[in-house]
Amino acid sequence: MPASTSVSTTARTLLPASFSRTAGYGFTTQQVHGGDEGLHGSSPHGDRVAPIHVSAGFRFEDSAAAAARFTGEEDGFVYSRIANPTTAALERRLAVLEGGAEALVVGSGQAAITTALLGLLQAGDHLLASDHLYEGSRGLFAENFARFGIAVDFVHDHADPAAWQRLLRPTTRALFAESLSNPRNEVLDVAAVAEVAHAHGVPLVVDNTLATPYLMRPLEHGADVVVHSASKFLSGHGTALGGAVVGGRGFAWDRLDAAGAPLFPQLAGASAVLGGRSWVDLHGERAYVEHARHGIAARFGPTLSPFNAFLVQQGVETLSLRMAQHSRSAALLAGWLERQPAVLRVDHASLASSPSAERARRYLPRGSGAVLAVTLRGGAPAARRFIEALQLFSHMTHLGDVRSLVVHPASTTHAHRTEAERERAGIGPGTVRLSVGIEDVEDLQADLRRALVAAELATPHDASLEGSRVDGAA
Ligand SMILES: Cc1ncc(COP(=O)(O)O)c(C=O)c1O
Repeated sequence: MPASTSVSTTARTLLPASFSRTAGYGFTTQQVHGGDEGLHGSSPHGDRVAPIHVSAGFRFEDSAAAAARFTGEEDGFVYSRIANPTTAALERRLAVLEGGAEALVVGSGQAAITTALLGLLQAGDHLLASDHLYEGSRGLFAENFARFGIAVDFVHDHADPAAWQRLLRPTTRALFAESLSNPRNEVLDVAAVAEVAHAHGVPLVVDNTLATPYLMRPLEHGADVVVHSASKFLSGHGTALGGAVVGGRGFAWDRLDAAGAPLFPQLAGASAVLGGRSWVDLHGERAYVEHARHGIAARFGPTLSPFNAFLVQQGVETLSLRMAQHSRSAALLAGWLERQPAVLRVDHASLASSPSAERARRYLPRGSGAVLAVTLRGGAPAARRFIEALQLFSHMTHLGDVRSLVVHPASTTHAHRTEAERERAGIGPGTVRLSVGIEDVEDLQADLRRALVAAELATPHDASLEGSRVDGAA
């Protein structure tokens, strides 16, 4: 059987013994050691860092071993689209850091979201998503998934569990939200939304890109699946694209609907390629990630290159240090920016004025992350002058870099939305998104001060009217 049709359940990325080795250690210890024992065992050279294995496939010792790897009787790597030692090392570490049962890494955050949801949804199903999403996720759901016959609704008041409840349908098979939203830094009430999902028998999938497991571990609050754009804070240095899907523990993937049929037949039903067994029969609570790996990612093919896995792994090893600095600086700058006359509004969960302030206290004791939205009174002209006057902040559509970044959502990431939609999302003509880097905060403040002076020069006298158009948008 060619690797492209492989249903092998081998090529394990998860070595249970290695998982327990760092259990009980703190986050920073785990981010440099988590899950790496198995790799040492498999390296004849004693490499201390997970090496980059650039091999498309892996040799079988003999015909019996080849067959055994395909039936799942023997562990080992087969083909790098399914698993690779370098990507596997990253998967083990991310599973440890998120407190999950198993992880799968793929080529980008978009690939992670697509893989995670295609593992749950099929034509005729319904996805219920927060309205406060990265635009790429929104487009994927509203346009691409719709073409596949998967319906979607967006919950605007995502902080209200009743708002989620109202939009559930009998065909809803997953709830989806960002733990910290892009770009307005709103905090999800993970436990409350998970409760709504579970009462309906379906999982909650959380995009944890902006929070990272250092700030929040959604699985511990009841989420069932976590996805990441590893291109952001996990990698941290703006070098590699990557994505991850992490499966939690305890969700019964074989639950039934009211008529007694499996809610997830692709996981709980007999599969011809598994010899009549199901993914649940074979893997229990790990069925979801195993199926996502072999049944979705191996087929659609969004493979993460081992080189990028190495870069993400390098980034992960300093995650806690960077996130602490990002969050501290972002909170300081958010508080200072809020007091500046040229600024109409600042969105950052660390602020007492934030609608997320109470949830931030509950969910984000280590800080509220790097991303903030700043709305300038002078609208688009002020935003343009502000961005162009910045010297340390790089003008680009990216976030989560050690370097500070800035972008004007209304004319870039959200340009295709109507003005009314942007207002509803709290993005006005004067809104800029900052991703605060790890530079000295005094230097960042001086840069922003210079930019505010430039913005003020472009601020018309009746600017308060312009700004008020976005003020009420929650
Ligand atoms: C919250 C969030 N999720 C997913 C993505 C997509 O990630 P990638 O660019 O790695 O595909 C992004 C990108 O900005 C994001 O901000």
